[in-house]
Amino acid sequence: MSLKENFLWGGAISANQVEGGWNLDGKGISVADVKRYKPNLDIEDYAGQHQINTKMIEEALETKNTKYYPKRRGIDFYHKYKEDIALFAEMGFKTLRLSIAWTRIFPTGEEKTPNQAGIEFYLNIFKELKKYDIEPIITLSHYEMPLNLVLKYNGWADRRLIDLFIKFAKTCFEYFGDYVKYWLTFNEIDSVSRHPFITAGIVKDRSEKGEYQNDIYNALHHQYLAAALAAKECRKIVDDCKIGSMLTKLTSYPHSCNPKDVELAFKSNFENIVHADIQIFGEYSKLYKKILAEKGIKIKFEKNDEKILKNNTVDFLSFSYYMSRTVSAAEDKEEVAGNTMTGVKNPYLSSTDWGWQIDPIGLKISLLELYDRYEIPLMIVENGMGAKDIIEEDGSIHDDYRIEYLKEHLKEMKKAVEMGVELLGYTSWAPIDLISASTSQMSKRYGFIYVDQDDEGKGTLKRLKKDSFYWYKKVIASNGKILDQ
Ligand code: BG6
Repeated sequence: MSLKENFLWGGAISANQVEGGWNLDGKGISVADVKRYKPNLDIEDYAGQHQINTKMIEEALETKNTKYYPKRRGIDFYHKYKEDIALFAEMGFKTLRLSIAWTRIFPTGEEKTPNQAGIEFYLNIFKELKKYDIEPIITLSHYEMPLNLVLKYNGWADRRLIDLFIKFAKTCFEYFGDYVKYWLTFNEIDSVSRHPFITAGIVKDRSEKGEYQNDIYNALHHQYLAAALAAKECRKIVDDCKIGSMLTKLTSYPHSCNPKDVELAFKSNFENIVHADIQIFGEYSKLYKKILAEKGIKIKFEKNDEKILKNNTVDFLSFSYYMSRTVSAAEDKEEVAGNTMTGVKNPYLSSTDWGWQIDPIGLKISLLELYDRYEIPLMIVENGMGAKDIIEEDGSIHDDYRIEYLKEHLKEMKKAVEMGVELLGYTSWAPIDLISASTSQMSKRYGFIYVDQDDEGKGTLKRLKKDSFYWYKKVIASNGKILDQ
């Protein structure tokens, strides 16, 4: 079995990492706009684990600086989207996954009517995509919620966020539903427990004493409910829509066959996948309820919550996959970074410049595991390698390491499809260099397209095609049959 003719090849980006124009045309301030770039990074930065406190937010609000707040400037997709979409089309993209900045539509999250300039901006993008027959896949919430909702409610810890989100989601379905059929509600919903500020707007010093963990798990509960209610609205408003859940697939391996390591890996995998379980099976499992109770977490279930979750499950499961993770009960193991978490060094794997461990077979394992568990269509909506690129004198960029990374992952992806996994598409992260989510660096580059900008915002923003640009174009043209350069 090979990839279907209508396989959705493309790339994925998020509003806060590309758009810039953070204070233009009525846009409000989002959590991404107060995330500061820090030049000397440590392993916690590489893993995106440093949290933000009220003082840091206040400092950010005092300045209009974009040098140290890089997500305010992005790569100026706000003005350059036509040029960028033309380049995606040149590679033959069938799809583009992007997100809608909540703060462009409802600047504080609380307005009664949407900001028309924000609506226009996205409508123009969808029209441009249509010109090239590129199918949009929309994420409604990708690390860019209104800061006002953080300061006023401590983010998703407060149940009132559900209604505010549904107002935003409905507005998007009503205005964009003619153009958009594929919708994802929350990017990497599981990540609330790893970086509560950026995903759910929870600031530790704003939680009541002793309530921080409860706030995190209740925020998750509120997001499951919001996702379910958004699915319900989407099905009412958008013809032929498909609504999916989006998980960070963090496949964990035990470092040894010591049952303690195996138990840790089980726990870690369970706590990762449980978020997809809730959105696909429509309920908290008995075991998960027990684990939460043992942690002392009290989820504030209201009367209809169970029904809402049960009646509005998703059509497909999308996920990001960058690396696998190795865990050990021993304390003397070398620690390495990973996607929003750390682990220990796996002696069988090499790592990226940022210490994420490269494991293509882990992608196949993940696909098989998820498909066997859920038997619903899957979509890989993020996969890629952050690396430092060098521009040659003639402007060429020889990113063989990126091609190698992607090629090996695609090979394993195809093997999983040959074994029967129903896969709707593959969108690489990211088709164009953008601001890193975890480190806010520009120098952590993922793209097939190079963007001339450094970590402090200096550069012409000129777009250049890397070797991988031509390679990916061939991959798409052959529907994945040709993977060699
Ligand atoms: C994913 C996020 O987890 O990882 C993206 O959805 C992010 O927003 C990507 O950019 C890569 O992580 P980073 O930290 O290298 O940008």
